Amino acid sequence: MSGTYRSLKGTKDILPGEVEIWQFVEKVVHDVMRAYHYGEIRTPALEATGLFARSIGEHTDIVGKEMYTFVDRGGDSVTLKPEGTAAVLRAFVQHNLGEQSGLNKLYYISPMFRQERPQAGRLRQFHQFGAEAIGSASPALDVESMLIPLEVSRRLGIDGLTLKLSSVGCEKCRPPYRELLIDALEKVASQLSEESRARLRQNPMRILDSKDDRDQRLTAHVPLIKDHLCAECREHFEQVQQHLRSLDQPYVVDGRLVRGLDYYTKTAFEITSASLGAQDALAGGGRYDLLAEELGGAPTPGVGFAAGIERLILVLSKKKLSTPAEVHPTVFLVAMDDASRRWAFRQAILLRSEGVVAELDYLGRSVRAQMREANRQQAGYVLVIGERELETGNASLKNMETGKEISIVLEDLSAALLSHGEKEKS
Ligand code: HAM
Repeated sequence: MSGTYRSLKGTKDILPGEVEIWQFVEKVVHDVMRAYHYGEIRTPALEATGLFARSIGEHTDIVGKEMYTFVDRGGDSVTLKPEGTAAVLRAFVQHNLGEQSGLNKLYYISPMFRQERPQAGRLRQFHQFGAEAIGSASPALDVESMLIPLEVSRRLGIDGLTLKLSSVGCEKCRPPYRELLIDALEKVASQLSEESRARLRQNPMRILDSKDDRDQRLTAHVPLIKDHLCAECREHFEQVQQHLRSLDQPYVVDGRLVRGLDYYTKTAFEITSASLGAQDALAGGGRYDLLAEELGGAPTPGVGFAAGIERLILVLSKKKLSTPAEVHPTVFLVAMDDASRRWAFRQAILLRSEGVVAELDYLGRSVRAQMREANRQQAGYVLVIGERELETGNASLKNMETGKEISIVLEDLSAALLSHGEKEKS
């Protein structure tokens, strides 16, 4: 490492050699979203701070401690988006998408920003792919939200995932449950960790999620929302599970599942991987039937998920699955003099316009050094060009793998590369 500046803590450069796996994951995401018929949406990196405070919740860790919020030069408080759902719902309401179509199925691949303590699988700028289905209360869509990240994982060769499922109730059943929970927690309040004590009145359900062993023990028998759902939420939860069973999709009901965002109603879920360690959530999501209205739109039910791409790639790297290779030039044009260099440059531009990956030397290297570079880049073919070749219009094309050379007419270079490339592939 050298230089005056470093990338900020919790942020990462994705360099050539590593970016190919990102491109591959992104391609799989686009393919799966296409099959599930979700359309891509791109929202800005910056939003009004109020949007997130309102939707994610004032008393969540994200809003309370983790957002990159600043006052811009115009005096407005703006925030780098910590998640995608609020932004997508803002766009949905703003552009009246609900009036144009009964159901909007939208997806995104985007960087997100949270000022968390960096550790393996936890960054300050990270990337999610996610989807939101807005306009229907059908439990089938809750299940779609679970299946999409599972299908992406399956296509990437990742297995051993656990789907954890719960229901967090609605505005009818949650308030009475909350009181029940607070009553139970107050009995042990004095023994709870400081953090949990602070959460008791503001966000008591998060106490269930405490990593503190003592908190875990003390709350082992407190009432869980899944056992206190209203009839409508119970029925919805049952239907979600019926769909999963009929699809033979394994899942576990986890009554202590608590999501770090307040907008959820009914379904909440997480997909975890045992190979990830402490930050084991690969994806999370759920239903948010009140969010559109909360943001000033017409009451519109919705459900979605988001998955962490860094974590997905971490799982892939642990499994040592074969990842797509770096791109190697089909041909490297080695030039012997200035005139040949000009010819090679023109020829490379032409080949590239035809879709051939062509490379040449830009560093004024000797012929030998150019050959070494072609080798290092693992070029498929090398064409050496000099005065004689330009004069006669003939040259020899060397297959770098077999070492064989074939004579070609320079004018036919691209045809020769394409036909040999094709033959070798078949
Ligand atoms: P979330 O659970 O906060 O949900 O984030 C979803 C996923 O993003 C996590 O499971 C994890 O893989 C990844 N992730 C979160 N924080 C970090 C981080 N600091 N570093 C690396 N990866 C991270 C949401 O964001 C909701 N918007 C999901 C949703 C969509 N619910 C409904 N629709």
